Amino acid sequence: MSGETVLTAENLVRTYTTGGGMFRAAADVKALAGVSFSLRAGRTLAVVGESGCGKSTLARLVTMIEKPTDGVLRVDGRDVVGADYQERKRLRQEVQIVFQDPYGSLNPRKKVGAILEEPLRINTRMSAADRKERAESMMAHVGLRREHYSRYPHMFSGGQRQRIAIARALMLQPRILVADEPVSALDVSIQAQVLNLLMDLQDEFDLAYLFISHDLSVVRHIAEDIMVMYLGRAVEHGPREAIFDAPRHPYTQALLASTPAVEPAHRRERIALTGELPSPINPPSGCAFHPRCPFATDRCRTERPELRPVHGREVACHHAEAIADGVATRKGATAAADASAAQ
Ligand SMILES: Nc1ncnc2c1ncn2[C@@H]1O[C@H](COP(=O)(O)OP(=O)(O)OP(=O)(O)O)[C@@H](O)[C@H]1O
Ligand SMILES: [Mg+2]
Repeated sequence: MSGETVLTAENLVRTYTTGGGMFRAAADVKALAGVSFSLRAGRTLAVVGESGCGKSTLARLVTMIEKPTDGVLRVDGRDVVGADYQERKRLRQEVQIVFQDPYGSLNPRKKVGAILEEPLRINTRMSAADRKERAESMMAHVGLRREHYSRYPHMFSGGQRQRIAIARALMLQPRILVADEPVSALDVSIQAQVLNLLMDLQDEFDLAYLFISHDLSVVRHIAEDIMVMYLGRAVEHGPREAIFDAPRHPYTQALLASTPAVEPAHRRERIALTGELPSPINPPSGCAFHPRCPFATDRCRTERPELRPVHGREVACHHAEAIADGVATRKGATAAADASAAQ
């Protein structure tokens, strides 16, 4: 049923241990430091943020490619982490993924028909004739022609390959589709076509989308809800209108300001995103965004802000109200400018 919750994530954490060679101590990378959200049938949640903030890690957990280090993941109300082999296998079919690179994600030695039918061969007892029928029907849904069935991936353009990848992801009739930068590798003119296709398919099959993108302009038209991530945590999460028209977190404001195609309706001030994204191996104290934040105060340097409801969305910022009202001062920014001018 449309609108029904099909997936919930509570405090998902994923830690990787890196390094640990002869001359280096092993270090823990908290790629995901506690993220919560839910997905509903027929709706799209977009996850946005800079490279390295944990978007693909989240995708790998949701699609059960990896297990969370901590936290709860439920698909159809069923606990994924504690599920036995059979249950996991079943739940895995409910969540499919489309990757960014339509060239790398399709087996070049297989024809389109075989690529589409492979999930059916592995996971169902459908007859060859039924598999073929399902593949042909799905090809029509994604705008591929009949004769494409016996062609190889290299004979297609990037946009068409992404259509094949989408078709393959839908072969097992999942309820949830995770799209990790699905149009980022495509020409701008092709991007809109693939986004439109995704929206049509969502309506048709009542799919829940987790749509990952570093580009806010891409998600604007397709997502009802937006979650902005920074260093493995959500910093702002809420309805599209709230996020685009009146962003409250300085990081969201900065992301919007750096996306020329999206002009927030009531932009008060441009916040430039300066400085590098810090490493999740050694995240900044307090609010992880404070070294780059023009509004940062002592409290931000010491106390990590939790997500909390502010004006119809959730924000993790001590000064969300003051910033929204234009009361917060850009002390940090002025100080930084002074310091660099003095050098
Ligand atoms: N297998 C791994 N081992 C060690 N560190 C990892 C591993 N996978 C991801 N990381 C680290 O976790 C953090 C989050 O990575 P992730 O790939 O989820 O980011 P992302 O938001 O998808 O970035 P991008 O926009 O570049 O795709 C990064 O600091 C990354 O280096
Ligand atoms: Mg990624």
